[in-house]
Amino acid sequence: MPAIVLAACSPEQSALHPAGVDATELANLFWFMTIGGAVVWCVIMGAAIYAVVGKRRPRSERFADRFVFFGGVAFPTIGLAALLVFGLALLPDWRGTDAPDLRVSVVAEQFWWRLAYEGEDGVRIATANEVHLPVGATVEFALTSTDVIHSFWIPALGGKMDAIPGRTNLLRLTPTKQGIYRGVCAEFCGTSHALMAFPVMVHEAADFATWLAAQRQPATASGADAFVAAGCGACHVVRGVSEAGSVGPDLTHFASRRSIGAGTLELTRANLDDWLIAPTHIKPGVRMPSFATLPDAERTAIVDFLLELK
Ligand code: CUA
Repeated sequence: MPAIVLAACSPEQSALHPAGVDATELANLFWFMTIGGAVVWCVIMGAAIYAVVGKRRPRSERFADRFVFFGGVAFPTIGLAALLVFGLALLPDWRGTDAPDLRVSVVAEQFWWRLAYEGEDGVRIATANEVHLPVGATVEFALTSTDVIHSFWIPALGGKMDAIPGRTNLLRLTPTKQGIYRGVCAEFCGTSHALMAFPVMVHEAADFATWLAAQRQPATASGADAFVAAGCGACHVVRGVSEAGSVGPDLTHFASRRSIGAGTLELTRANLDDWLIAPTHIKPGVRMPSFATLPDAERTAIVDFLLELK
């Protein structure tokens, strides 16, 4: 339990360690409201304590009138109005009128994230479960879902937004600090809701351009025979190798990612082998079937192939 609590407070997933314009405003709002609320609480408790233990000497009527006016009317009105005005001023302009620097489409599914980047020439570049962003650029996420309601949240970068079947919600974020952050699904969506995370890499603009250019390329790995023979291509696209499937995550550059199963396991050879053997044990409710019945040599060949998909 303490490990979970500490994980929730780690800077990479903390709304109080902002690394984006919106997250900074939210953190400021949090502190303003917290301190404002604390002042209100202290004044009320002070008045309550005074009422109980204050000296019982007769006060003038004028004192009583002023006490009620300032303590009961003026202070709450001014104090709460200030908190309200500050909060309203920070209401985000979710649909900015300027074109964003980058558009990313996000389709939330049980229990992973289907992503597509729009290239400058309008070409869509499909990927999954790992968000890459250039620092200082405003990105517009177009969010939807194919099954139930999910919610897309990168606490270090800004507020959350629901992904709802049948409609598209827009969320704009502007990261201001390079780094690796953790995004999560913030709406209970089924058995593996807690295993629906995604790392967010905020790069220098040039590094982001390099990453995007690499993602555009088809796969270069050799030795796809075992992957194809096992039927993996029925669900997964590996551009340049097998492009028919669309049920599961695009695996074209799978080995360039940090995790397996939408942030569930670190991407290592051993974890990948375990994932192929018992995906539903690792992530209940996942639609990935088990490949435990494959001969070890064939499974190893699939693992070798996947780890070559840089
Ligand atoms: Cu998706 Cu919770």
